[in-house]
Amino acid sequence: MSETRTAVELDQEAAVRRELEDYYRDGEPPWDTGVTPPELVALVEGPGALVPGRALELGCGTGTNAVYLARHGWRVSAVDLVDRAVRQAREKAEAAGADVTVLCGDATRLDEVGVPGPYDLFFDLSCFCGIPPHRRDAYAAGLTERAAPGARLLMFGYGPEAFPDPISGVTADELGARFPGWRLVDVTPGTNPVPTYWFTLRRTTAAVRPGSRQQAE
Ligand SMILES: C[S@@+](CC[C@H](N)C(=O)[O-])C[C@H]1O[C@@H](n2cnc3c(N)ncnc32)[C@H](O)[C@@H]1O
Repeated sequence: MSETRTAVELDQEAAVRRELEDYYRDGEPPWDTGVTPPELVALVEGPGALVPGRALELGCGTGTNAVYLARHGWRVSAVDLVDRAVRQAREKAEAAGADVTVLCGDATRLDEVGVPGPYDLFFDLSCFCGIPPHRRDAYAAGLTERAAPGARLLMFGYGPEAFPDPISGVTADELGARFPGWRLVDVTPGTNPVPTYWFTLRRTTAAVRPGSRQQAE
């Protein structure tokens, strides 16, 4: 489908991309700790751990968490906007002997990336909260189209208060509104000095349109 974007929207997308590219060009970005967050570890290894299936990481950076998932039996695809990050993620996966498909692309344009799914788990560590607002519904739609029944989205995000600009940040209310067909099952505050949250969403039954074939069956 063709997109019509305003000049302001194009500027916002270009500015976000430039900022991210600068982070990776300048060396190790602050978030690139090489440590998998305990919230993901709990889901994968904790009590009631998920059965390994197919996972997609949105905004995978240099691949620490994608490699972690692959090493725990998941079939993993991972996407990042920045080619420098993607190269590093591929190297990290290769060095670890982990089978991860790392693709360079936009998490809000998954049709162009080549990640058909379906996925049982989506993981997003602070990718969505930096996406310009006009692209966020497309992000949600991309995940919804690729979600296996009961799929889970584990997302870490900064609250809007954490940013000086008016377009970044994420709230539980926003996710509730932007992810129809999903249920927000948990919101746990992060431990950062600024407001952060771990959100867990579950894909519920697909909405059935009146008169659709699905309804008649
Ligand atoms: C805070 S970093 C986290 C990286 C990685 N998940 C980690 O834990 O180290 C967010 C990542 O999302 C990527 N990103 C931001 N917007 C994106 C988009 N629209 N599509 C794909 N990746 C994006 C950035 O390039 C960055 O690598």
